[in-house]
Amino acid sequence: MRYQGKAVIVTGGSKGIGEGCCRVFCAEGGLVAILARGKATGESLAAELCIKGPGRAIYLPCDVSRPDQLKSAIDRAAAEFGRIDCLINNAGWHPPATTIDQTRLEDLESLIRMNFISTFAGCQYALPYLRKTRGTIVNMSSMVALLGQEHSTAYCSTKGAQLSLTKSLAVELGREGIRVNAILPGNVDTPLMRDWAATLPDPQSALARVAALQVFGRMATGEEIGRIALFLATDDSSFLTGQAIEAEGGASLDY
Ligand SMILES: NC(=O)c1ccc[n+]([C@@H]2O[C@H](COP(=O)([O-])OP(=O)(O)OC[C@H]3O[C@@H](n4cnc5c(N)ncnc54)[C@H](OP(=O)(O)O)[C@@H]3O)[C@@H](O)[C@H]2O)c1
Repeated sequence: MRYQGKAVIVTGGSKGIGEGCCRVFCAEGGLVAILARGKATGESLAAELCIKGPGRAIYLPCDVSRPDQLKSAIDRAAAEFGRIDCLINNAGWHPPATTIDQTRLEDLESLIRMNFISTFAGCQYALPYLRKTRGTIVNMSSMVALLGQEHSTAYCSTKGAQLSLTKSLAVELGREGIRVNAILPGNVDTPLMRDWAATLPDPQSALARVAALQVFGRMATGEEIGRIALFLATDDSSFLTGQAIEAEGGASLDY
């Protein structure tokens, strides 16, 4: 019960890594706000978590690319729970492989809005509540922010921007007791990962290739990343801020 009575907002909380975070926080007694676009999936996860407990979950419809929707969802979560202790800026998208020549600037702009401006705006909108609880922010960046990735310049740029924001904001908010950290997942078995594989001629062997990259010979689960988020959200990590936690199962070792 490491999050009993405390409230967390998870953007993109209905599937994948965000779902894993919601499951972990709810299992620890947390009050969980699931923000996502798809109503059916969000509502069904919230209902399942309320039955399982011991925490409680609500679904709030929100497209994080729309700052007005993000602000009103954050305000609604705070009104419902009476507090916000952690914001997990997780919603994000990886477009199919595209060369820089093929990348349309309109698509780059919309990806920046979705992956990065949403993170920046989420921090801004949640701050009045986090100041009251001396809360924490967790930004879901990616290992490719550090490593780069072929034909993914737009995506990697947004993930790098999240990382720089994390470090800068950690400096700005440190004296107020608000900690800001980033998780850099490597390969996680999520709908996004499976959607990517489905764009390739042989999805199953592509997934097997990705699994083999980790020293454990498998990808992470959403809940494994959720447990890192819980660590960053609690006093167990009270001396960590501005850090990039590389959750990559050893994939970058032994080159
Ligand atoms: N999977 C990996 O291997 C991996 C590795 C490194 C980093 N990451 C990062 O981890 C985060 C989550 O990835 P994932 O693999 O879990 O993705 P996913 O399986 O596609 O799940 C994405 C979640 O975000 C929601 N979402 C998508 N667009 C949204 C929007 N505009 N507004 C609000 N919610 C939105 C989705 O629900 P709706 O579609 O219903 O809105 C869903 O709940 C992303 O930021 C990604 O870049 C993933």
